[in-house]
Amino acid sequence: MSILVTGGAGYIGSAMVEKLVAAGAPVVVLDDLRRGHRAAVAGGVPFYRGRVGDTELVRSICKEHEIESCIHFAALAYVGESVTVPQLYFENNVAQGLALLDALVTAGVRRFVFSSTCATYGEPIRIPIDEQHPQCPTNPYGWTKLIMEKVLQAHTDAFGLEFVALRYFNAAGATEKIGEHHEPETHLIPNVLAVALGRKEYVSVFGNRYPTPDGTAIRDYIHIGDLCDAHLLALEYLRNGGASERLNLGNERGYSVQEVIATARQVTGRKIEVRIEPPRPGDPSRLVADAGKARSILGWNPEYGDLETIIRSAWEWHQAHPEGYDQ
Ligand SMILES: NC(=O)c1ccc[n+]([C@@H]2O[C@H](COP(=O)([O-])OP(=O)(O)OC[C@H]3O[C@@H](n4cnc5c(N)ncnc54)[C@H](O)[C@@H]3O)[C@@H](O)[C@H]2O)c1
Repeated sequence: MSILVTGGAGYIGSAMVEKLVAAGAPVVVLDDLRRGHRAAVAGGVPFYRGRVGDTELVRSICKEHEIESCIHFAALAYVGESVTVPQLYFENNVAQGLALLDALVTAGVRRFVFSSTCATYGEPIRIPIDEQHPQCPTNPYGWTKLIMEKVLQAHTDAFGLEFVALRYFNAAGATEKIGEHHEPETHLIPNVLAVALGRKEYVSVFGNRYPTPDGTAIRDYIHIGDLCDAHLLALEYLRNGGASERLNLGNERGYSVQEVIATARQVTGRKIEVRIEPPRPGDPSRLVADAGKARSILGWNPEYGDLETIIRSAWEWHQAHPEGYDQ
């Protein structure tokens, strides 16, 4: 019996595959490589290059590998792109997500862990954000994830599929082998470190007049090792008969963009040039999780919560892989 990891060649998915392999769990990866890297997938893991919406392929993988559960990372995840080309996002994240679920349910799979996001909450009306906070996304990307949460509930009701939707805040950091390499890169920490490495001239700071102590936006950064631990615990929870749940994953601590840059300067010992740009529409000033529910339901206990540890791990990976996976 194996676990199907979709998007297992992406940033978080490949770290999950690494963790599952280390735990001795049989795992199979499905990724179309439109955004991922074949080199990020641990050696010896069965890999299928294809779309999650290819029901024939998913059915044959389920049969061949006796799939018992699925961790679904595969998605397009650029907020800006989702605003300019929404149809791409609804097709990839929702239509293909539905096709995947159809193939899995037909094949008898009843356990599903889903990569959701704090973007499903939209502009927060209170901080920290708990799971009861209203969900009103401010962009198509967030909507695709919220729609998938609703689709999953309908599959619980209709077919007894049990799921855990994990609403991540900002994934960051690296393991020894797995790091962040997106093209283009929109995340703050890899962009800051690209400047430290001399690969970029400056880092853009979008807005410095937010109602925060230093005027820059505050986010909750969570190490990918801690994120992946939560997925393992979520699988265990479902195997023990746990009912469908939605859980926030964050460190419950917010750091401003300026604090991230200052910490990166300290960790790298390099000068990091900054350019202040206009704020991006729909970017909330502050996003900080209340992750108490994940801690109590899953027994999750994030270990790498402090910003310096997160940035140091990413810095080590970027120094060892200055071209990312392209070498
Ligand atoms: N990175 C974050 O901070 C963050 C925060 C919240 C939620 N998430 C969610 O976590 C998941 C993983 O994020 P990531 O940063 O690792 O992204 P990523 O782009 O690095 O990985 C996604 C992977 O999915 C693959 N993929 C996309 N569509 C596919 C399809 N239709 N069929 C097969 N493969 C497909 C891509 O090739 C890529 O390898 C995504 O669902 C994202 O929405 C990420």
